[in-house]
Amino acid sequence: MSNGRVFSGVQPTGNLHLGNYLGAIKSWVGLQQVHETIYCIVDLHAITVPQDPTALKTATHEVAACLIASGIDAHSSILFNQSQVPQHAELAWLFNCVARLGWLNRMTQFKEKAGKNRENATVGLYAYPTLMAADILAYKATHVPVGDDQKQHLELTRDIATAFNSMFGEDFFPLPEPIIQRTAARIMSLRDGGSKMSKSDLSDFTRINLNDEDDLISLKIKKAKTDPEPLPDTLDALEHRPEARNLVGIYAALTDQSEAEVLLEFSGEGFGKFKPLLADCLINTISPIRDEMNKLLADPLELDRILNEGSIKAEAISEPIVSACKGMIGFVHSGK
Ligand code: TRP
Repeated sequence: MSNGRVFSGVQPTGNLHLGNYLGAIKSWVGLQQVHETIYCIVDLHAITVPQDPTALKTATHEVAACLIASGIDAHSSILFNQSQVPQHAELAWLFNCVARLGWLNRMTQFKEKAGKNRENATVGLYAYPTLMAADILAYKATHVPVGDDQKQHLELTRDIATAFNSMFGEDFFPLPEPIIQRTAARIMSLRDGGSKMSKSDLSDFTRINLNDEDDLISLKIKKAKTDPEPLPDTLDALEHRPEARNLVGIYAALTDQSEAEVLLEFSGEGFGKFKPLLADCLINTISPIRDEMNKLLADPLELDRILNEGSIKAEAISEPIVSACKGMIGFVHSGK
């Protein structure tokens, strides 16, 4: 396809919530119409921190089910889990021998994730970004939808591609571009407009999970923190009302409007009117995803089959690219 090739990855984590859906998954679905799309459940990245084997399997199935239920079509996209395609780990090693310690030392996510006890972090956590570069470049992907927290890793991917090209072959790898989310608003906690909606928040009432029942969604929105003021007619007026702004942002993202358009419709109205409409929108979006997800999760063998089929297609693209890299580096090979 002339519009370039999109690659993105998602960690296998359980408890997917509205923030995951509006922040990433929804835009992945839309990109299928315009680009060749490759979506990967990054289980090799997951084990950079300790994982319980059974929970990892379940989480991989949950993410796969959620993506398919949300509209990722295993025929128009390639959907698979990373560990099934050996080229990811193989190219990551080659990149470990291209990337410099100095480049990785600047990665802010490693510093955050390793915390104070750096000596105890795995080597894998440190090398996480070279594996991410391998994910993208094993397919010569041109576009990568990423959140803010991953932009630095994408920059590093471009640096690795540039270095590899200048060492072994001009223009072998394209320099992948980020695709910035159309939903500008980050989805925040329903109880604290200053912190991100998160699966690890102790209170379940801070988030809408993608498997919440309709009644629970309504109740969570009813109990969401707001203020007594009516909705204003400009976005600026929401600047110091983070909880109100978050609900407006969620409504806008669900209905594919800008926040300004939502305010145009609701200015002067109180939350007594706005919240039930928001809850209806949420239920309209989430209930079909939840029901389809539950159906898919009841048949894990079918999910395995879909992921396996995806991995075969993925390997058909990445194998010749990684083989070519090995040849350029000077490895002797049998030609098989
Ligand atoms: N690091 C990404 C995250 O945590 C996931 C990821 C892995 C990824 N490989 C990728 C995203 C390649 C985009 C492209 O969100």
